[in-house]
Amino acid sequence: MSRFVPHAGRACAFVVLVLALAACGGGESAPGSTGAAAPDPGARLYVQNCIACHQRNGEGVPGVQPALAGTASVVGDPRALLAWVMYGERPASLPKGAYRGVMPHYAYLKDEELALLLTHVRTNFGNAAAPITPAMVAEVRAARGGR
Ligand code: HEC
Repeated sequence: MSRFVPHAGRACAFVVLVLALAACGGGESAPGSTGAAAPDPGARLYVQNCIACHQRNGEGVPGVQPALAGTASVVGDPRALLAWVMYGERPASLPKGAYRGVMPHYAYLKDEELALLLTHVRTNFGNAAAPITPAMVAEVRAARGGR
């Protein structure tokens, strides 16, 4: 009777598939993007509501729209600033007729939006004034019958 001699086991070849799932970073930023992924909401509100007249860095347009950089009404009493921006109640530091332009009123913005927007204006363009809170906005609004 013959003896069965087992062969050495055959090595199995594995095919290794390398799945190149490289996160194709190659993302180019969208044309015209500022590069800021999520600009702060106060800055966004400024762009939407104020930049057309007061310009990117709050420099204004001489004789037409005042600057917001280093301006007394901007960095001064928050309630006076709110009264002007929301209702057009003129601050003492802004004589009538100094600028040719006319500014709209913004009482229709939400308390939170006005707080974010004016805090942005008070802490940018070289300004370093204290923030404005939604509670301050609500207080100014309530004093005028909630309009
Ligand atoms: C259509 C143009 C226009 C837009 C938009 C505009 N403003 Fe004005 N702003 C003016 C003009 C014009 C004046 C001066 C008006 C006057 O003296 O009657 C002024 C004045 C001001 C002042 C007083 C400046 C000072 O010298 O005391 C502040 C503060 C101000 N604007 C903030 C804002 C903010 C904040 C926004 C956005 C929510 C805004 N403005 C949007 C035109 C504009």
